Amino acid sequence: MRAELSMKERVELAARAVQDRCAGTPAVGVVLGSGWGPVAERSRTATIIPYAEIPGFPRCSVEGHAGDLIIDAGWGPLTAILQGRAHRYEGWSLEEVTFPVRVLAACGVKTLVVTNASGGLQGVEPGELVVIADHLNLMGDHPLIGIGASEGRFVEMVDAYDPALLQLAEEAARKNGLLLKRVTLAAVTGPTYETPAEAQMLRVLGAQVVGMSTVPEVIVARSLGLRVLGLSLVTNMAGRRAPGGKTHEAVVAMGLRQAPVMRRLLRDIIIRL
Ligand code: HPA
Repeated sequence: MRAELSMKERVELAARAVQDRCAGTPAVGVVLGSGWGPVAERSRTATIIPYAEIPGFPRCSVEGHAGDLIIDAGWGPLTAILQGRAHRYEGWSLEEVTFPVRVLAACGVKTLVVTNASGGLQGVEPGELVVIADHLNLMGDHPLIGIGASEGRFVEMVDAYDPALLQLAEEAARKNGLLLKRVTLAAVTGPTYETPAEAQMLRVLGAQVVGMSTVPEVIVARSLGLRVLGLSLVTNMAGRRAPGGKTHEAVVAMGLRQAPVMRRLLRDIIIRL
């Protein structure tokens, strides 16, 4: 019975399902969040595994989240790309939300690139790509609650976003004529967007962007010793009315518009890993 399996056993079961279908060990993992789905390129030799075929993987119900694991060497190193993620606001627990990251680590991934869409709070503009340098976990929950002491509980979170990877991303951006600002990401559960007062609170707390994902995955990745890089596409300003309304469709549309730039940046980062 799956419910009786330990976390370690469930991770191993899922990792085996992935490894059975993929030749080689992926060294790099990528989580493609809202707006980032179109960035994935599937070469002719890519292995594509629907999440439904990996035991224990959550299903994605959000538009723009395909729900496929793509394993491909098209960008240099063999890379495991999670095209779509599950969110807390869909009703998944943070343990379920972060399960795919545990599976990638068990498959051999050492470096994780996490991406998302975010609302801008201060110092950033809609359409801008930024690099996450720190975070505020304001989800009122934590993915390591209940984790045994031997499995990584008291995790150091200084430099959780790897300083060398931050620099590498900035160099890759410069090469593409982009200036990547370093931001602090505030993570909230959503699914509502922020009120003006909430956006003001997040500014006072020192965040430049706010999103509804990513931080739980980063915490789990750090507990497993992975190096982490975080990239965010600012799709709107939080706490302000957007022209035409602030909808998830607008977030996806912004991703589509920026996809060529995002793809080039991601490729130039991964080639350097
Ligand atoms: N708030 C929270 N998450 C988001 C936003 C926002 O304004 N835009 C995209 N993701």
